[in-house]
This record gives sequence, C-alpha cells and structure tokens, in this order.
Amino acid sequence: MKINNIQPYDIVIFGAKGDLSCRKLIPALYNLEKKNLLCKNSRIIGIGRANWNQNKYTEIVLKSLNIFYKNTIDINIWNNFKEKLYFYKLDVTQTEKFFNLKNILLTSSNTKIYYFAVPPNKFNNICIGLGTIQYNKPPNKIIVEKPIGTSLQSSKNIHHTLNTYFKEDQIYRIDHYLGKETILNLLTLRFSNPIFYNIWNNKNIEYVKISVSETVGVENRWNYFDEIGQTRDMVQNHLLQILSLITMSIPKQLNSKNIKKKKIQVLKSLRKINTTNIYQNTIRGQYTSGVIDGKIVPAYIEEKGAKKNSDIETFVLIQANIDNEQWFGVPFYLKTGKRLDCKKTEIIIQLKNITHSVFNHHIKNDYQNQIKIRIEPNEGIEINFCNKKPDINSKYKLKNSILKFDYRDIIQDEIPDAYERLLFESMKNDQSLFVSKEEIETSWEWIDSIIHAWQSNKIKVQLYKAGTKGLNLRKNIS
Ligand SMILES: NC(=O)c1ccc[n+]([C@@H]2O[C@H](COP(=O)([O-])OP(=O)(O)OC[C@H]3O[C@@H](n4cnc5c(N)ncnc54)[C@H](OP(=O)(O)O)[C@@H]3O)[C@@H](O)[C@H]2O)c1
Repeated sequence: MKINNIQPYDIVIFGAKGDLSCRKLIPALYNLEKKNLLCKNSRIIGIGRANWNQNKYTEIVLKSLNIFYKNTIDINIWNNFKEKLYFYKLDVTQTEKFFNLKNILLTSSNTKIYYFAVPPNKFNNICIGLGTIQYNKPPNKIIVEKPIGTSLQSSKNIHHTLNTYFKEDQIYRIDHYLGKETILNLLTLRFSNPIFYNIWNNKNIEYVKISVSETVGVENRWNYFDEIGQTRDMVQNHLLQILSLITMSIPKQLNSKNIKKKKIQVLKSLRKINTTNIYQNTIRGQYTSGVIDGKIVPAYIEEKGAKKNSDIETFVLIQANIDNEQWFGVPFYLKTGKRLDCKKTEIIIQLKNITHSVFNHHIKNDYQNQIKIRIEPNEGIEINFCNKKPDINSKYKLKNSILKFDYRDIIQDEIPDAYERLLFESMKNDQSLFVSKEEIETSWEWIDSIIHAWQSNKIKVQLYKAGTKGLNLRKNIS
C-alpha cells in the first residue's frame, strides 16, 4: 500500500509496559508498518517506570507481538519496525524529569502523538509535564482512552485538565468500537441503501436490541471493576455510541463535525430514566457460579480479591427511548453482561408486520422481518424474510429464510483491527471516528440519572447464573 500524505510521527506511548500497549497498540503499530503506513523516520517511544533500556524494550515488544499478534511475524517487517523503537524511563508524576524527555523529543522534528495508555489519574501529570517542556503545542496531539470519568462531573474535570493544555482539535478520545469495520459500516449500510434508508423509522421498526455479551468475568480487575460496574464500563461508551450511529439522522456531509452534530442530537433526545421509571426500564444483575465452556466458574463475589457484600452490577438491560419524530415509540434494548452464555456483539432490528397482511392468519412472530448485524464474532449481516414453502399441497404456506452476508467472503486479508485504524486516522488528522467532549458529557448525564435512580430507589442486583443469557426486564420483552 502506498502512503498518501502521511508524514513521519513520533508516537509516544505513556504506559508502554501496560496491558493496552502490549496487547493492542504494539500489534496495531506493527500492522501499520506491514502496510507501509508508518513512514521510515517515524519513531515509537515507549515510556514507563520500568528499568528498561532500548534493547530490553525491543525484546519486550517482540515478546508482545509473539503473544498478541494474530499472524506470523515477518523478519523484514520486524527489522524495519524495531529500528523505530525507543524507550525512556519516566515516572510521570516527576515533572522535572520531563526535561530529559524533551532532549529525546527534540532530536526529531516529527509531530508527536502522545498516547495516554495510563490510568486516568495520571492524565493531569502528563499534561503538566508536556506543558512544562512546551511540547503540548499544535500540531502535536494526544490520544486518550476511555473511561473518561465515572460521572458527568468527573468527566468534566478530566476535560478541563486536557483543555488547559491542549485544544479540542488536538484531542483524540478513543472508543475502539468506532474503529471496528462493522460499526463503521453502519453508516454506509443506512445511508447508501434505499432498502434500509427508507424503512429506518418508527413506522417500520418495532424494536432494536443492541447486545454486547462476554463470557469472561472481571479477570484480574475486581477492585477496579467493583468501583465502576457494567453500566459505566460498557453502556456509557460502547453501547451509546452504537445506539447513536444506528439512530442519528443523515448528516449534510460525512465529516467529523456533521457526524458528531447528528450523534449529539440523538443522545440529547434520549428520554431520561429517573426514579419514576427506573423499575420498568432497567434491570441490573450479578453473576453467581455456573458453567461456561464446560468449566465451573465462580460467582462474582467469590472471584479473587472480591468483597462478599458487593452490590455492583455485572449485567444490565436498559430500555431506552428516543423522543424525536423518527424514533418516538420504538424501544431500544441495551443489554450487556459478563459471564454470559456466549461472546458476541450484535444489533437486532425487528421490523413491524404489515398492517393488513393477506397472510395474517399464518404469520407468527417467527416470520417477522429481522435484520441482524453481527459486530463480532463472524462479522456480517443476516436478513430474515418469508418465502413460500415449496409444497404441492399448499399455495401459500410460509417459510422463514435467511439472506446472509459474511465479511470473510469479500475480504482476503484479515479485517483491519480497530486500534490500527484509529491510530492511522489520528495520523491523518481525522477526528470522525473519535468521540467528542460533548458526546461523552451528554452520555454521562443520561447514565448518571440511571445510577442515581438505582441508588435512591435502593434497587439491588438480581442474581443470574454464569453461562446463561442473563436477565429480562420485569415486563415481557423478547
Ligand atoms: N487494557 C485495555 O484493553 C484497555 C481498553 C480500554 C481502555 N483502557 C484504558 O487504558 C489505560 C491503560 O490501561 P492498561 O490496561 O494498559 O493498564 P495497565 O496494564 O495497568 O498499565 C498502566 C500503565 O501505566 C503506567 N503508569 C502508571 N503510573 C505511572 C507513572 N506514575 N508514570 C509512568 N507510567 C505510569 C504503568 O507503567 P509502569 O508500571 O510500567 O511504570 C503501566 O504500564 C487505562 O486508562 C484503561 O482504563 C485499557
């Protein structure tokens, strides 16, 4: 692949030893190298408190690739990649040490991309450090990871810190779901196909269900997770982002400003869930012991380091409603949980039946049109529709059929990874696939109200067995 207007960068990873860096960023950067999308003079500067030098860091990067890179490592690509690696030992809380970092940064005129792969309570330190050495100025930019706060107020505090040192067009807030090929395809699907575009409203759609199911538990993050819960960890960002892409109206142009404007409009139209409607519209759950993939797994409160009396939710199902003309009356079910029966992310669009159907007496729910968008695994789209059952005895017997589209059928290489795409977009100065401050704050406002209502109404978690589908709302939904 040829490089189009891509300049060399210094990609500075704060938190080079951490999980995010080793598992996601290094393989993504290697893939960019493989596709010839990192210029020759680019540098990758790992930063952390580890007592490493450049050789040790190179060794660690290779080890990370061996573990986390899905394909074979090519020796020629690796040789080019390793030439770009540098390491600098720095505790970001020691502002004066940033002057030594400056000595490394100034040896190249490359624009800097600072990746904040550290806990959010270190963002402030990095901003102060970079501000002190005056390396925070445009065109340098930063990439920050979710979670941006745990409430509206805390997200505002983080934004205030970032905005003190960086302008908005220098800040790239990642929600890696927005870099997934299938999520990106949502806008193409909706706005380039009349068969979808023309039915995308409350006249034709009965309900929408967005599910992100995990089979894993909290792994080694019990203490972190127990402060947060599934709603803040998954709904505030990933699920609300998917919801906004599914429901936003058509933008004037497909650019960052217009897309964000449309997404924010929808997020602002979300009906508030508060103490009066919390009971009907939400259910929060916590897993007990069960069996997943043939193995017994412990209950949430029996995981390593757990407190027995935790009331945090590992599962949540929320009925959201959008109070605008296009979507009024359509329920949106947002479901996500840990230790469920399978790992999958999917969107189900259930269509209404034809009001006057000549087949009415035959049609049951099983025969309703449904569009299923599989985000992972097996990325693709399925459409359920009715056919006549081939049968000599009956002229109009119905049969459910499925039209299937599978990404693997049209793509030879692997599907581009979300982090690889988002790093590349940041190099192109394109913020379309990143989340704005306003989107994050609007989402938090909606989530804060739910969490406040749970606390005020003393709504406790309901238990569900690990390895099952979780829980349903108190009223019946399919
Ligand atoms: N892991 C993921 O897949 C993922 C996904 C989405 C979002 N995130 C977010 O990304 C961030 C990093 O997550 P992670 O999972 O990689 O965490 P992690 O494994 O705990 O790594 C955090 C890194 O921060 C560094 N760090 C902490 N204090 C520091 C200091 N004073 N000076 C310099 N470095 C310091 C640590 O460096 P040393 O210990 O080496 O000094 C460590 O390498 C978090 O905000 C997380 O919420 C992670």
